[in-house]
Amino acid sequence: MSEKKAAGGLQGIVAGQSAISTVGVGGIGLNYRGYDINDLAYKCSFEEVTYLLLKGNLPNQQQLNELKTLIQQKRQIPCKLKQILETLPKESHPMDIMRTVASIVGILEPETKSGQEYEISIRLISLFGPALLYWYHYSNSGIKINENTGKDSIAENFLKLYHLKSQIDPLVIKTFDVSLILYAEHDFAASTFAARVTVSTLSDFYSGITTAIGTLRGPLHGGANEAAMQYLEPLRSIPQADQFLNSRYQSKQLIMGFGHRVYKKEDPRSPIIKDFSLQLSKTANGDPTLLAVSQHIEKRMIEEKKIYPNLDFYSASAYKQCGVPTPMFTAIFVISRMTGWGGHIIEQRSNNKLMRPVSEYTGPAKKQFVPIEMRNKANL
Ligand code: CMC
Repeated sequence: MSEKKAAGGLQGIVAGQSAISTVGVGGIGLNYRGYDINDLAYKCSFEEVTYLLLKGNLPNQQQLNELKTLIQQKRQIPCKLKQILETLPKESHPMDIMRTVASIVGILEPETKSGQEYEISIRLISLFGPALLYWYHYSNSGIKINENTGKDSIAENFLKLYHLKSQIDPLVIKTFDVSLILYAEHDFAASTFAARVTVSTLSDFYSGITTAIGTLRGPLHGGANEAAMQYLEPLRSIPQADQFLNSRYQSKQLIMGFGHRVYKKEDPRSPIIKDFSLQLSKTANGDPTLLAVSQHIEKRMIEEKKIYPNLDFYSASAYKQCGVPTPMFTAIFVISRMTGWGGHIIEQRSNNKLMRPVSEYTGPAKKQFVPIEMRNKANL
């Protein structure tokens, strides 16, 4: 067997084949199953993209209607899950809730035969939001929400359940829906790769998803949207933004929401979510100061460090202006990326091979064994 040495972090290593998305490969930008991300974001719904990623093609009207009906059915929270959610502390992080929901549903509705991937994916995509918000309202104010909001899209259902309102501003719904489309798929991102490694052992679907959620959480990956909002929130003027950036530069700390392993210039998703964040900032509930500060940080990072914003940077201000609390940002990413994870698990299983690389050994040379009674610090 010939062995190639991997750079740190598997940078630049082709770890397998995939027909799901291109992340800037060959200069053709970001495409899901061949469709440009701009077309999908501006002309499609998240439900259409869900079908595309899981089934391989865009749905016709009848297929979309059937998917919407299925989503409505699959958002019902099982009683046993409700009982468990009611016991979880309000201080829990939403990502712990998401990981737990995937795990509990894996017990209540286990994968028992082959060919269940589409159904289980739709179950989790539909259920994650209602389950998170059931826990949120119950643990904070004792309210047991009714998760069924009729034929609403995933985006509208989430926003209605969070705000406990029957009407949501259409621009807020569209922004949220676009963010779900943008976060849906990104090739062998760390969480997707982790899911593929897990199912390559012939483990079950839910184990692949809990692995992926744990991997997404870190601030170098999905946790960056939450981490970006944490530093943006207190910055209420350009001088404050300058002070923040200067001190980060000085201490050589990362600016979350900037940089990318693959895109070394612009992340093609960033201008799209920035467009929606800017639109929201001009509405009555918008936050123009947050956008002015964000744009100033972006300008300085590009001019001074040549580092561009990734999707997470303007997603932070977009979600904030949708009225969603910061600790929920990465959990929303889970709802969206569930589509990509599902597509990748299906693809991995269609041509499975155990993922088991090797490391370059850097430990000690072979040593003579020392019985315990003869060991002391000197001879170890
Ligand atoms: N702030 C400050 N400096 C940075 C940043 C940043 N956000 N990103 C990269 N750099 C610097 C880095 O310090 C390094 O400098 P030097 O060569 O002097 O050591 C140089 O740019 C190259 O960076 P790298 O660490 O080799 O690049 P990478 O491909 O390993 O890292 C990254 C990619 C996303 C981990 C990194 O850019 C980062 O930590 N960004 C902040 C976290 C973040 O926003 N993550 C979300 C990624 S996109 C969405 C997703 O996948 O979920």
